Amino acid sequence: MFARHDLGKDPPFSKLDLISCRNVLIYMSAALQERVLSFFHYALKPAGFLLLGKSEALGSSAHLFIQEESKRKIYSRTRQRPWPGRPWRPRITQKRRRTPLRRS
Ligand SMILES: C[S@@+](CC[C@H](N)C(=O)[O-])C[C@H]1O[C@@H](n2cnc3c(N)ncnc32)[C@H](O)[C@@H]1O
Repeated sequence: MFARHDLGKDPPFSKLDLISCRNVLIYMSAALQERVLSFFHYALKPAGFLLLGKSEALGSSAHLFIQEESKRKIYSRTRQRPWPGRPWRPRITQKRRRTPLRRS
């Protein structure tokens, strides 16, 4: 499926095996990176993998992922909640909008 998707605003996908997000986080503020990484954590299956760009890091969200390979920036998801003690649900600011892109 191809669709427009704003990582910081749109509802996250779910039950994904793999998220490849390379050279995107580096352009975001620390707060937005934290939000997006918590969405990725939610979106991945328990054994799902996350790929980041060479110069990207997890920062304050390091507890949400296990580093599988440092050189290639491959991470797997932990079972930890982004905010322990609180029921976890992604904080979504916009209504669900999943309109596939039209072919021109
Ligand atoms: C430097 S490019 C990297 C493209 C590709 N991943 C690569 O490594 O060549 C950054 C990309 O992030 C996308 N991007 C920036 N902010 C975004 C957001 N909030 N949601 C989704 N994509 C975003 C931009 O549209 C752009 O395509």
